[in-house]
Amino acid sequence: MPARTSKSTEKPPPFDPASTGTLNPSDTLKLLALPDTDLPQPPKDLGLEALHRATVVQLPLGVGYATREGQFIWCNEAFEMMLGLAPGEYRDRTIAELTHKDDAQANDELQRDLWAGRIKSYSIEKRYVKRDGGELWVRVSAAMVRTSEGNPVCSVGFLEDISARKKMEEEIERVQKALVDASRLAGMAEVATNVLHNVGNVLNSVNVSASVLAEKLKSSKGARLGEVAALLRRHRDDLPGFMARDPRAAKIPDYLAALAAQLAGEREAMLKELEELRGHLDHIKETVTMQQTYARRCGVVEEVAVVDLVEDALRMNSGALTRHRVAVQRDFLDTPRITTDKHKVLQILVNLLRNAKYACDESSAPEKLVRIRIEQVLDEVWISVIDNGVGIDPEVMPRLFTHGFTTRKSGHGFGLHGAALAATELGGSLTAHSEGVGRGATFRLCLPLPRRGGTP
Ligand SMILES: Nc1ncnc2c1ncn2[C@@H]1O[C@H](COP(=O)(O)OP(=O)(O)OP(=O)(O)O)[C@@H](O)[C@H]1O
Ligand SMILES: [Mg+2]
Repeated sequence: MPARTSKSTEKPPPFDPASTGTLNPSDTLKLLALPDTDLPQPPKDLGLEALHRATVVQLPLGVGYATREGQFIWCNEAFEMMLGLAPGEYRDRTIAELTHKDDAQANDELQRDLWAGRIKSYSIEKRYVKRDGGELWVRVSAAMVRTSEGNPVCSVGFLEDISARKKMEEEIERVQKALVDASRLAGMAEVATNVLHNVGNVLNSVNVSASVLAEKLKSSKGARLGEVAALLRRHRDDLPGFMARDPRAAKIPDYLAALAAQLAGEREAMLKELEELRGHLDHIKETVTMQQTYARRCGVVEEVAVVDLVEDALRMNSGALTRHRVAVQRDFLDTPRITTDKHKVLQILVNLLRNAKYACDESSAPEKLVRIRIEQVLDEVWISVIDNGVGIDPEVMPRLFTHGFTTRKSGHGFGLHGAALAATELGGSLTAHSEGVGRGATFRLCLPLPRRGGTP
């Protein structure tokens, strides 16, 4: 986590840049006593030293004064305790020495701006290194101490220990990442589940084809040919006599001709069935290969036709869509190519199509329809999945993309959350729209198109 900074660029009063601002404690105390203001004056018996102690020394914030070179001039007890320094040990240290090396440059630049008068004050969240080597996250608010003429004397920094908050932020970041990973895995599982669904469906068709073939073979008239052959074999020694005398022999030519015609028909039907079987097997092979391609290519950015991605996503959902009698309409107004992580886009589209299928399934609309629209709008491609399903209650709309939000009994509420994150990672966005309950829904994935003559 890098240092966070903010600065006030309001110009400080003019000063003499040649002034290096050497400070001794009594000058500091004089300045801190605010002699020329109309603030309530300290009680008479409270000397300047006591006033200083009462304000700065005992402040629960760390306070440190430093020279232009960053050498500490004076620090309060809270400062020493925060950094685990022995009393007075700060005198041998500079700001740069105590600052974590990763935050040193940012801090150094701010100190230089402050001393050069480019900024009036700054605030930075940075790490100090404690005496025992441990890190301490602090927010430092720093400003200049100036003479009444505006000349810089020293810089003053107020340190607030923010390590507890930082720890919490890190924890939140860790949990967030774990959620993202879980969503992504859920997305992958979604893709894999769809592949299995599809393969399962096609295997059903394979089974049907195989049974039809077996049935055809069983009932084939081809077996009767054996009977004719056996009859002829029995009269092998006097075939001319058999042909001339036996009434069965006279029927043989016609019988053989009819059988030949029948066998040709059977053969044709079986070839057709075999062709279908091969088609089903190819479909399985294709689906598995596609899944492997996506699994392997996860994280790889490549050029791809948007239409191909949409078709792949449809293929992965085709089983479920057909089974639930959901018609698919393709409105491909444009057919651009984009440079993207195919797997992420597929994960999003598979989720959207699955959700659309569920929405249609739960609706009482007689004609269930999912439309996919691809259009090019300025420098983006919009892929919209539009269904005429149950629609979305405007009340739940704000929670739609929240991790864990689901209205389905078997839902997880991971799909849209993961899809929206993936869309952002691709430099795009995912939005939802619905006219309300019973009025269908539109989910739109916007992805950047490659810039003319360059990558997106
Ligand atoms: N096309 C849609 N039409 C109507 N409601 C939808 C649609 N898509 C999503 N929703 C609503 O948004 C909720 C969250 O969707 P999301 O995909 O994140 O989770 P899910 O589908 O419930 O579960 P899963 O994690 O298994 O995908 C759904 O439960 C549903 O209420
Ligand atoms: Mg879902």
